[in-house]
Amino acid sequence: MNSIHTLDTPSLLLNLNQLENNLNEIRDIAKQNGIEWRPHIKTHKSVNIAKMQLEKGACGITVAKLEEAEVMAAAHISNILIAYPLAQPKKLERLKKLSSQTKVILAIDSFEQAEIVNTIFSGCSEPLEVWIKVNSGLNRCGIEMEEIVELAQKIKTMKPLALTGIFTHAGHSYAASSQEQIEKIAEDEANSVIQSAELCEQAGIPIQHRSVGSTPTFKYGAKIKGITEIRPGNAAFYDMCQVGLGVAETKQCALTVLASVVSKKKDRIIFDTGSKALSLDQGAHGNKSVVGYGRVINHPEITIERLSEEHGVASFKDTLLEMNDTVEIIPNHSCVVANLFEEYIVHRDGEVVERWKVEARGMMK
Ligand SMILES: Cc1ncc(COP(=O)(O)O)c(C=O)c1O
Repeated sequence: MNSIHTLDTPSLLLNLNQLENNLNEIRDIAKQNGIEWRPHIKTHKSVNIAKMQLEKGACGITVAKLEEAEVMAAAHISNILIAYPLAQPKKLERLKKLSSQTKVILAIDSFEQAEIVNTIFSGCSEPLEVWIKVNSGLNRCGIEMEEIVELAQKIKTMKPLALTGIFTHAGHSYAASSQEQIEKIAEDEANSVIQSAELCEQAGIPIQHRSVGSTPTFKYGAKIKGITEIRPGNAAFYDMCQVGLGVAETKQCALTVLASVVSKKKDRIIFDTGSKALSLDQGAHGNKSVVGYGRVINHPEITIERLSEEHGVASFKDTLLEMNDTVEIIPNHSCVVANLFEEYIVHRDGEVVERWKVEARGMMK
């Protein structure tokens, strides 16, 4: 078997033991709270990892992009929440085809979108399952809670649609500056869904699924009574943004980029990993604890100060690293980095065991 240090660089490394630990932890949290787990696969974009999650007990998957759903469905993965308010007729025609082949659920976040989906799905033999997305403070997509009942009532009049759930995404938790703030955001996130569902039920519209859960918030949201599902994505891998937020420790980070030293100068050392391998992402503004562009494992003396496309330029204090040495770098944002590579080189304790394609990389349509 090959050691990871014999690989060409840059390479995307996946620590299988740690991935399994991370997935088991999420699975256990869902189990202990008697709720479902629907991982967001935009993090890994990998059929193998999605299948691992399902084998471990996930009820289905979440995607952002229709193309991601198509890739996963082609690999016989079903029960796919498209957590994105698709409204373009061209895309909805594709969704119609997909929904005739497998179970998909579409996010609805406006009256206008509901009308378009209703028109395109009219005449289908089975109704399309839809979940309303409510805004819980991220102020991205999502209808305001005050309009939820009206939208739910409107959807109920639409025969081609079947409303079965309400969900939200608390992405603003990434800008939290303390654990208390994360907990408060998690509480607000869960309450916005629970209250929305209660308002609908008071109006005679049953809401079976009540779904929350970003990586910073899912552990808290899972415990709140009335929540039925969590959807963490990043928690499969974690990264330096999560470490900066206090959500994970570096040892929990399962994804790294293998880099080589290409040059060493008096005051700097240069790696072969630039923005096309590590991305320029430094997390949400507000997350001041992210330093540089990734953590070089076992080399606290090194800070990656800047990236150009193919170069990572680092400052150092007394480093033993020399030209052609290899290092593992924990990226700031693993979801973005996974999308930059063709394949995961999967290892256990530094020994390569498999290579997995990133099947849905670049799938944005
Ligand atoms: C709708 C939705 N659900 C779940 C997630 C997963 O969030 P995270 O990667 O923080 O776990 C996201 C992330 O963008 C999302 O948009």
